[in-house]
Amino acid sequence: MKAILCTRLGGPDDLVLAELPVPVAGSGEALVSIKAVGLNFYDTLIIAGKYQTKPPLPFSPGGEFAGVVESVGAGVTDFAPGDRVLGYTSFGAARQYAAVPVEALARLPAELDLDRAAGLNITYGTTYHALKDRAALAAGETLAVLGAAGGVGLAAIELGKLMGARVIACASSEEKLAFARAHGADAVVNYAGEDLKDALKRLGGEHGIDVIYDPVGGPYTEAAVRAIAWGGRHLVVGFASGEIPKLPLNLTLLRGCDIRGVNWGAWVRQKPQAYRAGLDQLARWCAERKLSGHIHAIYPLAETAQALKAITERKVMGKVILRP
Ligand SMILES: NC(=O)c1ccc[n+]([C@@H]2O[C@H](COP(=O)([O-])OP(=O)(O)OC[C@H]3O[C@@H](n4cnc5c(N)ncnc54)[C@H](OP(=O)(O)O)[C@@H]3O)[C@@H](O)[C@H]2O)c1
Repeated sequence: MKAILCTRLGGPDDLVLAELPVPVAGSGEALVSIKAVGLNFYDTLIIAGKYQTKPPLPFSPGGEFAGVVESVGAGVTDFAPGDRVLGYTSFGAARQYAAVPVEALARLPAELDLDRAAGLNITYGTTYHALKDRAALAAGETLAVLGAAGGVGLAAIELGKLMGARVIACASSEEKLAFARAHGADAVVNYAGEDLKDALKRLGGEHGIDVIYDPVGGPYTEAAVRAIAWGGRHLVVGFASGEIPKLPLNLTLLRGCDIRGVNWGAWVRQKPQAYRAGLDQLARWCAERKLSGHIHAIYPLAETAQALKAITERKVMGKVILRP
């Protein structure tokens, strides 16, 4: 089988396309023929050795996938050959076959295609956990989303609308903002051309912004917190800008607001049942087209480097998918 391997830490061009034997499903595992892999911003970090998870070399990037069960190992009764599944493995999916523990798999609704399913787990899963469990976002509240056209950003617009919030999408280009509006945003801010604090203060009115969804960091974080409502929640999701911001803590005192961290991977390990219930819900919503699962582009496995570069070059709207 073909596999993309990270044999030394570096950038996308350091990855190699290798030929490996097809693995065999061990006890408690299923062998999955991988049809589509969802790439994420963190794949660009994990291959550089800059992510909290540091797999031993060589490894394949790609933490989420959709495919078809080929065979099952000893003791597996809840999956059978032919089952259409999606999976979350943190890394290791950018290859044609993978033997994975069945706890990492979920069955797909018949109406959900494999490409959209491949990109559902991490972005929508993180965002559902963030808005529901961490922010307790309520209907009628105002939600501001930074990096709103990216993977988790788009998920925040769509889930925010499904949860009844008014959504303000913030991004760096008019094209991204038009995309955000087309996916449900009620108002938009181009933070490349407009001061983010002033724009959010204007759009938040006297009350302010109830929940800020922040996967970007850098100078945008403090600018957004300065427009937060009394009792607001700022969700720390990631630092795609490359800069972890430092915040004057007096802002939390003045606004009676909370800074709340989001660590979806750790939550999945701690609350596996809640994770699976949420994933089933997200897959149903995606099958019913209540969530778009929008795909920016699909690349063949051999073009993994180009796919990752589209992410680092800030070009992507929605998800990038690999098709092994
Ligand atoms: N906490 C968790 O559990 C969790 C889970 C999933 C993801 N994350 C994190 O969330 C962040 C976003 O992930 P994603 O997969 O949604 O990424 P993505 O699709 O690449 O989106 C990131 C967005 O960040 C903005 N951005 C600003 N500066 C950037 C830069 N220098 N390079 C790239 N993008 C930049 C871009 O929007 P504009 O051009 O509009 O600014 C882009 O659309 C990452 O930091 C990731 O590690 C965290």
